[in-house]
Amino acid sequence: MRYFVITGHKAVSTGDFKLDDIAGGAGRLDIMARCVNSAFFLSHDLRKDVELYLVLMGGEDPPKTIIFKGDELRYLNPDERSTAALMRNALLKKVQPGEEAKSSPGVYVTRMSFADVLERFSKVGKMVYLKEDGMDCREYDFPENPVFVLGDNRDLTEEEEALLLSYLPDSINIGPLSLHADHCMIIVHNEADRRSA
Ligand SMILES: C[S@@+](CC[C@H](N)C(=O)[O-])C[C@H]1O[C@@H](n2cnc3c(N)ncnc32)[C@H](O)[C@@H]1O
Repeated sequence: MRYFVITGHKAVSTGDFKLDDIAGGAGRLDIMARCVNSAFFLSHDLRKDVELYLVLMGGEDPPKTIIFKGDELRYLNPDERSTAALMRNALLKKVQPGEEAKSSPGVYVTRMSFADVLERFSKVGKMVYLKEDGMDCREYDFPENPVFVLGDNRDLTEEEEALLLSYLPDSINIGPLSLHADHCMIIVHNEADRRSA
C-alpha cells in the first residue's frame, strides 16, 4: 500500500460550503480535491493500493480527516467540483470521536487530528516526509507501505513538523524546485512505480 497524509491548514471541516467557492470560502479545498485526483487517477483506471488522508483543520468543527480508500472507491471523477461534492457529503455526516463514518464507497470521515493520524500510522508503515531539503528521492530506497506526509499550500507548522519528526521519518525531496502538493504526489507515485515495475 501507499499512504498519503495532507495537512489542510485552512480547509473547512463542515459541509456547508458552496461548490462554486472551494478555492475561497472553503479554505482551499480545491487543493485537497487535486490531491485526490493525483492520489488515485491513472489514465483508464484508479490506483487501488492507495489510501489518502486529508486532515482538515479549518472552519467551524476541526479537526476532521476524510479518508479515501482506493480499493473501495466508486463515483470518483477527475474534476475538482465532483470530488469536492464527495468531500461535502462526507462532512455532512455526523461522526463521533473514534468513529469512521462512510459517506460513499471508499470515502470515510473521522474526527482524527494530524496527531491522531500519525499515531495510527506509527503501527502501519514507515513515514516519509516530503521536504524540499530532504535527501534526493532518486537515491532513496522506497520502503514497503510508505506513509508520505506533505503540506498543502503551506509547509507543516513547526509544531506539526516536530510531531512528525518524533516518529523518525525519512525525509526526501523530489526535485530542486518547490512544487504544488498534488504535483509532488504524481512524482512520488512515478518514482515508486519505477521501482516496483
Ligand atoms: C506548495 S508546497 C508548500 C509551500 C512551499 N514549501 C513554498 O515555500 O512555497 C506543499 C508541500 O509540498 C511538498 N513539497 C513541495 N516541493 C517539494 C520538493 N521539491 N520536494 C519534496 N517535497 C516538496 C512539501 O511537503 C510542501 O509542504
